[in-house]
Amino acid sequence: MSFLEIKDLKVHYPIRGGFFNTVVDHVYAVDGVNMIIEQGKTYGLVGESGSGKSTTGKAIIGLEKITSGEIIYEGKNVAGKNRGRRSAFNKDVQMIFQDSMSSLNPRKRVRDLIAEPIRNFQRLSDQEERKRVLELLDIVGMPEDAMYKYPHEFSGGQRQRLGVARAVACNPKLIIADEPVSALDLSVQAQVLNFMKNIQQQYGLSYLFISHDLGVVRHMCDYISIMYKGRFVETGTREEIYSNPKHIYTQRLISAIPNINPLVREENKSNRRAVDAFYRENEHLYFDENGKVYDLNPLTKTHHVAIKESIKGAI
Ligand SMILES: Nc1ncnc2c1ncn2[C@@H]1O[C@H](COP(=O)(O)OP(=O)(O)OP(=O)(O)O)[C@@H](O)[C@H]1O
Ligand SMILES: [Mg+2]
Repeated sequence: MSFLEIKDLKVHYPIRGGFFNTVVDHVYAVDGVNMIIEQGKTYGLVGESGSGKSTTGKAIIGLEKITSGEIIYEGKNVAGKNRGRRSAFNKDVQMIFQDSMSSLNPRKRVRDLIAEPIRNFQRLSDQEERKRVLELLDIVGMPEDAMYKYPHEFSGGQRQRLGVARAVACNPKLIIADEPVSALDLSVQAQVLNFMKNIQQQYGLSYLFISHDLGVVRHMCDYISIMYKGRFVETGTREEIYSNPKHIYTQRLISAIPNINPLVREENKSNRRAVDAFYRENEHLYFDENGKVYDLNPLTKTHHVAIKESIKGAI
């Protein structure tokens, strides 16, 4: 059962210029995105830098003004102004930010940082609140004395875990995780990702997992959407995207995943060259005359590709 539906979401930023500082054009950061989020599932949002991933996440939780579109939460449209600061949606949808250093207030101790979302939505006594903060620190594997420290006293990995603790503090239904591990080294990445998976199993959480790293997304996600210039070029289950990518942009992204096995390195390299050459020859078939991504076209119930109807049979 889906509890959240994003319909035709658009975020356009005006570009001002000229003598009168008038709006001369727009950046189409997010340009018609649709998603259906079910309980307990992980959705990957993948794309190159500037494709609109963070803007999509921020627009969903209300940090970015939406140009048009609907966010249907439990049957009601919560896009725009018609939801209160303490609404169920604000409690149930939380975000972990791309940069943990600037997203945690440097002047607050961990105890207050983690208790802040709880204070917004629940009335707990001092004793109860302390107990809950300790519980949350335990969930993310941090010691009790972390309570009294400030964000700068932690490593990047630890800070990201604090971000996870803060996000799960009010038992949300969905966590939007924007590149939660990109700034961390590989061993710490695995730790944080495993925490996130454990918490998911315990609480039946859903994730919208934003990343440019297809390796991490493969490890985490049930469904994946590939984003390019503010639009989805392809969406599908993990198997559909990795084993049967249909859009040339997806194919190119997947062929660029590095392989650590030295025996297949040469083979991969020539494969990558072939995919690149194919991309250049066929680009015009997959994007319209303005270079815009077409609307998604269903291949199966779950697998959708942005192509013209007329070439659907040929791919
Ligand atoms: N406040 C803003 N004003 C104008 N343009 C913006 C603003 N915020 C983002 N953009 C533009 O919107 C586009 C999408 O940005 P966004 O941050 O969503 O990309 P991203 O996919 O998250 O990239 P990255 O992987 O680098 O984090 C970019 O072209 C960016 O320059
Ligand atoms: Mg981003």
